[in-house]
This record gives sequence, C-alpha cells and structure tokens, in this order.
Amino acid sequence: MIERIDALRAEGERAFASAGNAADLETVRVRFLGRKSDLTALLRGLKDLPPAERSAVGARANEARLALEAALAEAETRLVGAAAPGPRRDVTLPGRRPRVGHRHLISSVLEEIETIFHGLGFSIAEGPDVESDWHAFTALNMPPGHAARATTDTFYVAPDVCMRPQTSSVQIRVMGAQKPPVRIICPGRVYRNEAVDATHHFEFHQVEGLYVDEDVSLADLKGILDRFLKEFFGPDTVIRFAPSYYPFVEPGASVDIRCFFCGGKGCAVCGPLSGGWLEVLGAGMVHPNVFKAVGYDPERWMGYAFGVGVERLIMLRHGVPDIRMLFQNDSRLLRQF
Ligand code: PHE
Repeated sequence: MIERIDALRAEGERAFASAGNAADLETVRVRFLGRKSDLTALLRGLKDLPPAERSAVGARANEARLALEAALAEAETRLVGAAAPGPRRDVTLPGRRPRVGHRHLISSVLEEIETIFHGLGFSIAEGPDVESDWHAFTALNMPPGHAARATTDTFYVAPDVCMRPQTSSVQIRVMGAQKPPVRIICPGRVYRNEAVDATHHFEFHQVEGLYVDEDVSLADLKGILDRFLKEFFGPDTVIRFAPSYYPFVEPGASVDIRCFFCGGKGCAVCGPLSGGWLEVLGAGMVHPNVFKAVGYDPERWMGYAFGVGVERLIMLRHGVPDIRMLFQNDSRLLRQF
C-alpha cells in the first residue's frame, strides 16, 4: 500500500512539473487530486483497513496529497509567470470612470429657457396639470361648444375637469390671483388626445409667456421673441410672424424661424410648401375677453402671450427625428446631451 502511494506521488509530481500550459495542468490536477483520482479513492478506503495499518497508510497518503498540492501550486505560479512576463498589474493605467447620470434633455432645455427669460425680467409661475374646464377653455375665450376646443382636445377626469391641453391655463390662474403688471413664463407638461406619431405625442411640454401692463405692443412681443429665439437657436436666427388663429389672442400669430437646415430654400425638414420656414411657436395680443374673464379692465390693460412647444425646439436644434425618442429613456440617446 505504502509503495503504491509513493509511486502515485512520484508520478504526480513529475506530471505537474511537466505540464506545459493551463489546460494540461487542469488535466493533471483532475487525474491526481480530483474527486475520482486514485489518491482520493485510497483515502476513502482507509476505513476498511485494519486499525494497525490504517494510521501509517493514512499519514503517508496525506503527505502525498500535500506534496501534490504543493506541486500544483508551483506549476500554477510557473505557468502564470510564463504567460505574463513582467509586472501583472499596470498601476499607471487610468481608472475606470463610473458613469454618472444627469438631467434629461427636456429638463435641461426647460431650465435653459427659464434662464433666458429670467434674464429678460420674467418670473416663473406654475399651475396644476389637472385643470378645470373653465381655466383650460372657457376663460381662454373658448366657451363650451367652441369649435377651437376640438383642435386641442384632451383627456377628461370628470365632465368639467381635464388634463390641461396647453399651459395657457396658467395665464388665467396667475391673472386671477394678482393685479397687473404681470411678466411671467409658465413651464410645464401638457396633454392632448392625439394619435402618436413622429411629431405628435399625447403628452409634451410647453413654456407659456405672458406680459400685461398699460402700454404693451406687438412690437414688444416681436422684440422679446426675436431675442429668445436668437439666444436659443443662435445669433443668425431670422424670425417672421405669420397670421394665425388662437381664440385667446387678437391678433394671433404663428412665429417661424428661417429653416437653418436649408437656409430657407425648402428641404425635407421644413417641407416643400413652407417656403423655407419652420413654425416654432404661437403668440399674439391678449384677447379682451380673457381680461374680462379674470377681472382685468380691457380698456386699461394690454398684454401679449406666447406658447412654445419644448420638444419641437429640441427636435429642431438637436436633430432628434422622432418625438417618441424623448420619452423612451434610451440611454444611448440621453448620454449624448
Ligand atoms: N396655447 C397655444 C398652443 O398650445 C400657443 C399659444 C400661447 C398661442 C399663447 C398664443 C398665445 O398651441
């Protein structure tokens, strides 16, 4: 028995010493130290030996096991050293930077817009997303049954309570709560009963603007929007006002910028019929009926209002082709901004 153990040990030591690579070494390890190796079987069989022999054989077998384990360790060191000469860790390599999150593109652009208007003397007002029919429509010169309600149809929580389809409702809340002059912007989420496609979504963001004082003109509106759009899209931005209809302003305008993709020649972004202009927001002079609804004297006060679609601005400035991408939270998109 003792001889068999010594023979196994010698054979194993030789095998470990001559293993030439990691795969070889593993085969040798399984053969001499594995669960099915002769040595393991022998140790397991110890209990069947007469007690007198048991301790001598056991001690020898354990010695052999330790020797083989040492031979394995030695072979491992030898092979690793051969595979990777020189220092194994390069402590001069730069560390791996953990990826830190940041604000969503919509949030940072909202803040950017707030900063621009803050610099122009506007303060920030907020209103609820869930709004009464009166604030959302009636006070904005759209009484029940008004045809324009259909163009900004929304979701109803109760017959007279809806998800606000435009931030214009915040105009009503602010004017209802304070006397003129008023100079505010209202950033926030709005909702529409809208079929979702690349340029429409059932929820998006707007920034409303409202300025009410004794002597406010369309020229003031044009000046402030020119300033804002130049800050946002760059100093070469060219704007124009085109007549448009919103029930709560008179006159009303859609404000366009010259397409910066084609320089105004007409392209796939601005469309062949636009004449090279991109519509970016709606604006106008506050309608006397809106002043009446909030208890302001329309003979004394004048004002302008405008409403900007935030996603539209982002899509144009950053070339995001599909509004849905802004709500999918795919980090491959968000990481870029
Ligand atoms: N609320 C309008 C819209 O959602 C935009 C607008 C705001 C137009 C204020 C005129 C004045 O389209």
